[in-house]
Amino acid sequence: MGRLDGKVAVITGAARGMGAAEARLFADEGARVLLADRRDEEGREVCAGIDRAHPGRALYAHLDIRSEADWASAVEQAVQAFGGIDVLVNNAGIIRIAPLLECSAELFRQVVDTNLTGAFLGMRAVVEPMRERGGGSIVNVSSVQGLEGRYGMPAYTASKFGLRGLSKTSAIELGPLGIRVNTLYPGPTKTAMTRRDGWTDPDYDRAYGGYPLGRMADADELARVALFLASDESSFCTGGDFAADGGVSAGKPRD
Ligand SMILES: NC(=O)c1ccc[n+]([C@@H]2O[C@H](COP(=O)([O-])OP(=O)(O)OC[C@H]3O[C@@H](n4cnc5c(N)ncnc54)[C@H](O)[C@@H]3O)[C@@H](O)[C@H]2O)c1
Repeated sequence: MGRLDGKVAVITGAARGMGAAEARLFADEGARVLLADRRDEEGREVCAGIDRAHPGRALYAHLDIRSEADWASAVEQAVQAFGGIDVLVNNAGIIRIAPLLECSAELFRQVVDTNLTGAFLGMRAVVEPMRERGGGSIVNVSSVQGLEGRYGMPAYTASKFGLRGLSKTSAIELGPLGIRVNTLYPGPTKTAMTRRDGWTDPDYDRAYGGYPLGRMADADELARVALFLASDESSFCTGGDFAADGGVSAGKPRD
């Protein structure tokens, strides 16, 4: 028996990285999954791979999470194809590094518009279909930078702290509808977002060597936490903060 048998999940940013790992794992666990992204070619490839392993369980939709019209269309496609929506993972995100005085208003807005407003639009879009199913689970993917500041990342940090507040307020509002809203705080994870030219696995791990677990995560490790929050195993969790960050937010490493 799968841990998501009978559930329908919408996952944003599913063309690669954590979103792709979540889509694969959720389908392995019995869910039917709408993979959504703006990288259509990569997204369709991931989707086709899942469909080969589990025919009929995966569908791809083009979605720019900043667009309300795209959200309406993606939600409609999930409902038409799979009969409803039980889970939304607001996973898509971007990072831009620029210290405060070098961060233009345009860059700041771009990051907040994607990471925060995009998730806000996603939650609004799925409430009605979730209400029709009698409830659901929303997982908002923040970051360890949603728990602590970091030099050079005012826009990213603001957007990821903002997600925390958005999740808490939404948990209060949506709890009576049976819709749970939790925030996941990944730590450094080996994906395209963190890749540096020429780095190999040991280089990644060395960069975080001083932190408690002394390495970066694989995307699958984050997908497993998202799976817990998506599934009924977390049935009493809402408005919660779930860090999977290798101990980075526990405090500063030794100097
Ligand atoms: N990799 C890390 O170390 C790390 C750490 C903490 C938090 N996170 C967060 O985890 C999430 C996933 O990150 P990842 O590492 O897999 O990144 P990634 O760059 O590999 O994948 C992100 C995906 O989001 C998509 N995306 C970006 N903007 C979009 C938009 N406007 N509309 C639709 N899709 C869009 C991209 O096309 C991409 O497929 C992000 O929210 C990120 O901020 C990542």
